[in-house]
Amino acid sequence: MRIVVLGAGYVGLVTGTGLSDLGHEVLLYDIAAEKIAKLRDGRVPIYEPGLADLIRRNQRSGRLSFASDIAFEQSNADAWFISVGTPPGADGAADVSAVVAATDTIARVARKEAFVIVKSTVPVGTCDLVQGRLAAAKVSLEVVSNPEFLKEGDALSDFFKPDRVVIGAHTERARDFVRALYAPLQLSGERIVMTDPRSSELIKYAANTMLAVRISFMNELSRLCHATGADIHCVRRGVGSDARIGKKFLYAGPGYGGSCFPKDVQALAALARAHGLVLETAEAAHRANEEQARFVAQLVETSLSGVMGKQISVWGCAFKPETDDIRESPAVKLCHTLLARGATVVAHDPEAGPNFAKHFAGKVTVKEREYDALSGSHALVLLTEWRSYRAPSFTEIRRRLVPSPTGAAPVLVDARNVWRLEDVLRAGLRYQGVGVRSRAVKTQP
Ligand SMILES: NC(=O)c1ccc[n+]([C@@H]2O[C@H](COP(=O)([O-])OP(=O)(O)OC[C@H]3O[C@@H](n4cnc5c(N)ncnc54)[C@H](O)[C@@H]3O)[C@@H](O)[C@H]2O)c1
Repeated sequence: MRIVVLGAGYVGLVTGTGLSDLGHEVLLYDIAAEKIAKLRDGRVPIYEPGLADLIRRNQRSGRLSFASDIAFEQSNADAWFISVGTPPGADGAADVSAVVAATDTIARVARKEAFVIVKSTVPVGTCDLVQGRLAAAKVSLEVVSNPEFLKEGDALSDFFKPDRVVIGAHTERARDFVRALYAPLQLSGERIVMTDPRSSELIKYAANTMLAVRISFMNELSRLCHATGADIHCVRRGVGSDARIGKKFLYAGPGYGGSCFPKDVQALAALARAHGLVLETAEAAHRANEEQARFVAQLVETSLSGVMGKQISVWGCAFKPETDDIRESPAVKLCHTLLARGATVVAHDPEAGPNFAKHFAGKVTVKEREYDALSGSHALVLLTEWRSYRAPSFTEIRRRLVPSPTGAAPVLVDARNVWRLEDVLRAGLRYQGVGVRSRAVKTQP
């Protein structure tokens, strides 16, 4: 089939490339001409494992191409995917203006009966709004909701082996069409959720908010562990071994980030408020997440007896490993706080360093090698659990960091709870985790 994907960001690039790999002929269209020029040149503007190779392969096969305007000969698509951004507005509600603009582009250029498939995460009723806009422009296209569930860092595997594909349509014809698009994935029946557009739109927000609630609850418990002397590792293992609960998404840390959870939780809460309802759970998950960022900043502050005039190293800028995405990253939040409190910050990330340096425009030094980011610092804060940070040389870390002016040993603030307390202490460093034991326990004789 001939497909045009509007929006060549994290979702559009993966979806478009994936669909071309399934044998469809795909044009990726984006208004950001610079991005398109890069892609045409063979350069991929984001880091996503495996994506660059897959783009190259499909570009070479002639099935995948890029454009910042849609030529007449490309306008006879069978399907138009909308995968543009839906950022939060001032009140937290999703801003769908890019979806509306993409709809108008389609209305202007489409010249045969086809389907418009909305991949962007949009408030309930947006597909109907898009349908109305197309009808007003007298364009005969049917709108389908097909929300995206990919996880950055694992996006290709999520495309080719999704947990489920949700298809929200008003007609059987539209459902059959989208099912046929994904047919090469050979998904079993239970992995395809057929529904109406409004339920489909809500499923996406509900899934992200459910996950955010789990994280926020564990983060609140980590604060309770800190206050009471309990250990969140043990609590997680004990709770997660209940089959009804399961082990995933129970890790305490610096709070959830990224371009989805923070905005989707708030957008769901805003959607409810717009309908005269208060979703207490979603609102609380958001507040708990904000509080966790303050809690981790306070851990750094307390373990250094104040950060004013201190140098602090940060390992991990991306909101999660295996991506260069720093949107709503806990590292961004924490570094702003540390800078505002008078600290100097030196950072490292295997992939997100350039984005971080650009964001802080010279206010944070970003190093290319992780150990180079440590020299002369009083503390190291681990914010993203990249594999390369999981088993570092604590001796080398100790060699590079310096004691605080009071003479206290340098401290490692492990905001992801991945290091072993004993390993850190053995190197002559202090340790501070999130809701875990941070001091050696004297054993009874
Ligand atoms: N990033 C994720 O992990 C993820 C996962 C699932 C769902 N989503 C949802 O998918 C959507 C896209 O997210 P993303 O992370 O890919 O965003 P992104 O910001 O990386 O990409 C959006 C792209 O759309 C382009 N664009 C904006 N207006 C346009 C227009 N009128 N026509 C064509 N292109 C236009 C932008 O230039 C940009 O390149 C959002 O609704 C998001 O919530 C994202």
